Amino acid sequence: MSHFSCKNGALYAENTPLTDIARRFGTPTYVYSKAAFVENYSAYADACKSNGRDENSALVCYSVKSNSNLAVLNVLSRLGSGFDIVSGGELLRVIAAGGDPRKVIFSGVGKSHEEMRLALSHDILCFNVESISELHRLNEVAGEAGKQAPISLRVNPNVDAKTHPYISTGLKENKFGIAYDDALTTYRLAADLPNIRVVGIDCHIGSQLLDDAPLLEALDKVIELIDRLAEDGIHLHHLDIGGGIGITYDKEKPVPIGDYLTRLFARIDQWRKQKHDGAPIQVMFEPGRSIAGNAGILLTEVQYLKHAEAKNFAIVDAAMNDLMRPAMYEAWHGVQPVVQRAEEAKTYDIVGPVCESGDWLARQRSLALQQGDLLAIMSAGAYGMTMASNYNTRGRAAEVMVDGDRVHVVRQRENPADLFALESIID
Ligand code: LLP
Repeated sequence: MSHFSCKNGALYAENTPLTDIARRFGTPTYVYSKAAFVENYSAYADACKSNGRDENSALVCYSVKSNSNLAVLNVLSRLGSGFDIVSGGELLRVIAAGGDPRKVIFSGVGKSHEEMRLALSHDILCFNVESISELHRLNEVAGEAGKQAPISLRVNPNVDAKTHPYISTGLKENKFGIAYDDALTTYRLAADLPNIRVVGIDCHIGSQLLDDAPLLEALDKVIELIDRLAEDGIHLHHLDIGGGIGITYDKEKPVPIGDYLTRLFARIDQWRKQKHDGAPIQVMFEPGRSIAGNAGILLTEVQYLKHAEAKNFAIVDAAMNDLMRPAMYEAWHGVQPVVQRAEEAKTYDIVGPVCESGDWLARQRSLALQQGDLLAIMSAGAYGMTMASNYNTRGRAAEVMVDGDRVHVVRQRENPADLFALESIID
């Protein structure tokens, strides 16, 4: 169910008209639906439950990088979510939002000494280690802290996720993870390090996957490794299959979360019965986009219409610095007028004020527009605000969260003075 829908010719977020939000808070503004976050997280939690899993045998670790606003993290943590982080900053956000660090897993290829120390001091659940050098560094840092660091190795199963090359991560040529063929020796090395405790295995093959077949293929390869490790006396407590399920931006039909999880748990149950006397293994997920993507839109106002010889442009007050995805990946986002007009539509490119030809949000859209109209850039809840920049000294957009007919500002709009507050001039 979409929580952004049209009622009597006007677009609403839950029970709140987007025109009200623009009037009260200005534009550009990211608008989130609390109900959508709850519903999307619950698709995972409910599927875990209906497949016989409780909190100890399955854990959803929301991928913070997709949308890291404190209000979002707080809503999810109250539902019991864990968190997948990729920086010390994200860990501090989780804690500031009331999340439980003992449900945090730390991914990423470049963890610094400081980030490791911080994560160890908060007793996070697991480090997803991506290289041998990282393993040695973590062993050293944990030793200094008088701790044992719980780790998974992120293995690269060499599975083609069949998605955009920039967001595919499970192939041999990607920088991520430890090559499948090196995994066994790396696990043996890890098991011998005094300040490392081997607890799991992790993989993440890519993002915006519409089909679960590549994920189930990756699962089979992970299962094979777990069995080989068990023969070596290395017994893992958890298996983390990563994130990656896609969403509908246009007409895509991603596999329903419940179907994917049911197939995954069935495969795991069959394997545990056959090879491990039914002994359970904890399963983890790292979803981002499938929870946040369709829980947010970017609200923007048409500043000017330009009917040029070759093209019509609608110049809006949001830009590539607010939503990078079109410029970076040629990503497609739906564009809906907030109030429908009866006039005849024209074909427009929706562009921002930034001085780059790549500054576009949508191309060739048929819309009836007037200067001052409001537009909603759809499916902008994931990798929208988190990838925003201050290019052209543009303050980042405000963020609001709608809860029924109530609207909460969850991040104030940045002022220009905020943007250069950390700068100074020299004599
Ligand atoms: N786990 C790891 C280790 C990841 O690298 C990612 C995303 C996720 C989980 C969450 O994946 P999701 O469930 O959201 O597919 N900026 C790009 C997407 C980059 C994804 C990076 N990794 C975009 O805007 O499409």
